[in-house]
Amino acid sequence: MKITAVENKTFGAVVTDVSLAALGDEDFAAIEAAYLEYGFLVFPEQFLSNEENIAFGERFGELEFGAMSLLSNNNVNEDGSTGEVLHIESQRMRMIIGNETWHTDSTYKPYSSKCAMLSAVVMPGLGGGTALADTRAGYAALDQATKDRIADLSAYHSNRYSQANDLGDFPVQQADTIYHGEAYLRPLVKRHPETGVMNLFIGRHAFAIPGLSRDESRALLQSLLDVIVADEARVYEHNYRPGDLLFWDNRAILHRALPYDYSQPRIVIATRVAGEESEFAYNPSDREAAAGRRALAEELALLAEETKDRRYRSTTARSGMAAF
Ligand SMILES: [Fe+2]
Repeated sequence: MKITAVENKTFGAVVTDVSLAALGDEDFAAIEAAYLEYGFLVFPEQFLSNEENIAFGERFGELEFGAMSLLSNNNVNEDGSTGEVLHIESQRMRMIIGNETWHTDSTYKPYSSKCAMLSAVVMPGLGGGTALADTRAGYAALDQATKDRIADLSAYHSNRYSQANDLGDFPVQQADTIYHGEAYLRPLVKRHPETGVMNLFIGRHAFAIPGLSRDESRALLQSLLDVIVADEARVYEHNYRPGDLLFWDNRAILHRALPYDYSQPRIVIATRVAGEESEFAYNPSDREAAAGRRALAEELALLAEETKDRRYRSTTARSGMAAF
């Protein structure tokens, strides 16, 4: 097995000369050490089956979900055949397009994600890759005054906030879906639970920093994101070839989907490893959850007014979203 750092970047490595479908313990230990160091790993041309994706993901911990097709723009039938691409107005396409803004996975749930992987099956002719950004190097690049200012600040995280803010999309609130009414408060600075390295834990789901005005909060979150992506050494774009597997640490890296021609099929197998205690905010039944629900309701009311001229606002889909 060969692990090669991506050139001219602060993060990322490409792993070759290994078969993830037949991975020995020694190679796994080296992969585990590498993803903690590099933040993300590209495994070219692995062509893992659903079962093999799940088995590889489970080596890192309990799965939030395994080998799902939810990030593909069409459905894969039991026999492996594919149907029509999803309608651009469908709620799942809105979710997929929403993912084109920088984010960390599942920060809108009680436990944010530990790590995630995508295996490419069918790629559109152009685009459809994944961009990643190094929030550790971004944090390190902040001046001391900013580090001091944000040291004790937190933001609420909600997928309904990000859909409304980014797309003017207002899916109907449903408790057992990602469009629930909770918002989870998370510190802006995360100390990585395994490496101890600090990083900026922000992204599209983050809003309403307690103690700051709405304008101050929005400006601060945007300015921190701007710092991360200001240096191209901290941003990497992976354009998949079929069979590639991309693996990233959601506790150290931001990512986003890259746009493509949505009339062409893009089929990826998605697996997400669940966060641990270090990724836990609180449960909806906990006392502190009430403030998050209030913050989200207030924010959505303002966004409903502010985004009324933008796409999706007038035709929000009312169904079709499964329970994640
Ligand atoms: Fe994602």
